[in-house]
Amino acid sequence: MADSTVRKRKTAPKKSEDGAGAAASKDGAASGGTKKTAGSVKLSTVFSLLLVAIGLVTYQQPRLVQGIIDSVSSIVGNFRPLPGVEENLVVEFAPDVEKRDAVVRAFQHAWLAYERDAMGDDEYHPIGHKGSNLTEAGGIGYTVVDSLDTMILMGLEDEYQRAREWVASKLDFEKDADFNTFETTIRVLGGLLSAHHLTGDSLYLEKAQDLADRIMPAFDTPAGLPTSMINLARREGVMNDDNPELVSTAEVSTLQLEFRYLAHLTDNEEYWQKAEKVMKIIKDARLATGLASIFMSKNDGKYALSAIRLGSRGDSYYEYLLKQYIQTNMTESVYRDMYDDAMDSVANHLITTSHNAKLIYTSELVPQRTYTSDIVWRLVPKQDHLVCFFGGSLMLGATITGAIQHPVSIPPKASQLTKQGKRDWINGVELIRTCMKTHETQTGLAPEIAHFRIPSDRLEGSIAPDDWYIKGAKVGADPPYDARYILRPETVESLFIAYRLTGDPRYREYGWSIFQAIEKHCRIESGGYASILNVDDVPVTYEDKMETFLMSETLKYLYLLFEDDQVLPLDKYVFNTEAHPFPIIYPTFRTGFS
Ligand SMILES: *[C@@H]1O[C@H](CO)[C@@H](O)[C@H](O)[C@H]1NC(C)=O
Ligand SMILES: *[C@@H]1O[C@H](CO)[C@@H](O)[C@H](O)[C@H]1NC(C)=O
Repeated sequence: MADSTVRKRKTAPKKSEDGAGAAASKDGAASGGTKKTAGSVKLSTVFSLLLVAIGLVTYQQPRLVQGIIDSVSSIVGNFRPLPGVEENLVVEFAPDVEKRDAVVRAFQHAWLAYERDAMGDDEYHPIGHKGSNLTEAGGIGYTVVDSLDTMILMGLEDEYQRAREWVASKLDFEKDADFNTFETTIRVLGGLLSAHHLTGDSLYLEKAQDLADRIMPAFDTPAGLPTSMINLARREGVMNDDNPELVSTAEVSTLQLEFRYLAHLTDNEEYWQKAEKVMKIIKDARLATGLASIFMSKNDGKYALSAIRLGSRGDSYYEYLLKQYIQTNMTESVYRDMYDDAMDSVANHLITTSHNAKLIYTSELVPQRTYTSDIVWRLVPKQDHLVCFFGGSLMLGATITGAIQHPVSIPPKASQLTKQGKRDWINGVELIRTCMKTHETQTGLAPEIAHFRIPSDRLEGSIAPDDWYIKGAKVGADPPYDARYILRPETVESLFIAYRLTGDPRYREYGWSIFQAIEKHCRIESGGYASILNVDDVPVTYEDKMETFLMSETLKYLYLLFEDDQVLPLDKYVFNTEAHPFPIIYPTFRTGFS
C-alpha cells in the first residue's frame, strides 16, 4: 500500500529547510558564547562527581542512579539555552505594518464577497457566489458572529457597523432544527461573548444569554455529558443518529471557557455548574494511561473503547485543560493537575520521532480486538492538521504549569522551567517545526492529514526518503480526502503563540510564507477564498467553500502575528478554540471538585 503511494518531491516556496537549518546554527552559535565557557568549567566538575557517584552507587543501589542522572542532566540543561530560543535575541515586538495590513486586505477580500453574495447566511460558497444555511430552519449567524471580533481588532469600522446592524435586526435563535452543541458554542456563543468584551455593547450579551439558555438543556442527560446536538427552538438535547449513546470527548470538554465567562458576566452560576460537571465526569473516568479516548458514553459518563489522539474529537480537550487554568488566573489547581497528568501521558505514549529527519509528531492509538477478544492498542503514525495547534499550546503550557515562577521571561530561560516544562517546551518547538515541514508541498500548504514513515513501511532503500506522506496520493488519480487544505488555522495559531513567547522573527517568516501560499492558491479573484482539494497539485482544484474559521481564526492569528504585542497580550487573554479572545478573570465561582 505504502509503496504505491507517490508524493512528488517539491520545493517549498519559503524553503523551510533552510529556515530550520539556520535556526539550528543560531542555537549552535548562541551556545558557543562566553556563558558556555563559564558553564563548561562547572560542567566538568559536575561530570567527575557524577562518575564517582555512579561508580559508588551502581552496585548497591541501582535505582538511585537514574535519579542522579536525571538531576545532573537537569542541572546541565540549565546552562544551555532552550531549543528554539536564540540566546542573544533582542526581543522586539514592533508591528510589521506592511504585512499586518496585507492580512487586513485579505480579510476585506473575504468579508466583502460574503457580504455581497450571502450576508446573513451561515456558510459561504465563493465560486458559486452564494450562501447556505446549516439547516432548513434558517441561519444562526455562523459567519457574521464568528467574524465580529476580527473586524473590531482590525479597526474595520464600516464593515463592523453593518455586521452589528445585522445582529441587532436579523439574528434570531428561534430555529426549530438541530445544531451541533459544540460548534454553536465555540463559534456563535464565543463570538458574541468576545464581541461584548471588546465593545461593551450589551446587545451581544443579551444574544449570548438567549443562545446559552437554549443550549443548556443539552446537559440534561443521565451522566451530565451534553448531547451532541441541540434543538434551539424546542430547547431539547438531541443525539446523533449514528451514535445515539456516544458523545465526543473534545466536544463535551470544549464548552467550559464560554460558559464560565458567561456565568461571570451574568452572575448566574448555573451556566458554570453544568459545564463544570463535565470536567468532574472526565476526571472520574480517567483511564490507567491518563489518556482520553475520543468517545464517552452519555449514560454512564465512562470512556467508550475508541481511538486516542490529539486530532479530531480529542484535540481541544487538552487545549481547554490548560486554558481553563489560564482563564481562572491560575487559581484552580485541579486543571493544572489534570493538564500535567495529560501531558505526561501524551509525552509517554503519543509523542513519536520520525525515522529520517527526527521530526516530532503525535501518533494515534487505535484499539483492536484480537482472536481471543483481547484488546491491543495499535500505534498509528498519522497526524491531523488539527494537531498543529498543539505546538503552540505545549509552549504556552510550559510557561504556565511548567514554570518554576511566574512570569517567565521572553523568551524563557531553561532555569525558569521545571523538568516537565522543559520537555513540553522542546516538544512544542519541534512540533511546530514538523508542522512547517508538512507545508513543503507544491502549494506550500499543509494537507488535512499527514502520515509518517515507520520502519514497518519497509521503505528502506526505496526512492521515498520523505519523513511523511499523504496516504493514498497517486499521480494521475483523484486526490484522497487527506490531501485537502480547507483554510485551517492551527499552524498559524501555534506560530502566533510561539512568536509572542519568544520574539523570534523566524515565526513571523513562517507565517508570512503560509499567508502568501493562501493568497496564491486559495484566493478567488471575484472575492473570497476557497478550500483546495490537493495541496500537491498546481494549478489547484477548488472546493466551493470558505469555512467560517478563515475569518475568525486564520486571518486573526496572522493579523496578531504581525501586530504589536500589546494587542491581546497572553498574560491578560485566553483564546477559545475558535480564536475568540476572553479576558483572564478572577473567578467568583470556584470549581467544586479536586
Ligand atoms: C438562511 O437563513 C436566513 C435567515 O433565516 C434567510 O434569510 C436566508 O434566506 C437563508 N439563506 C438561504 C441560502 O437559504
Ligand atoms: C491574577 O493574579 C495576579 C497575581 O496574583 C494578580 O496580580 C492579578 O490582578 C490577577 N488578575 C485578575 C484578573 O484577577
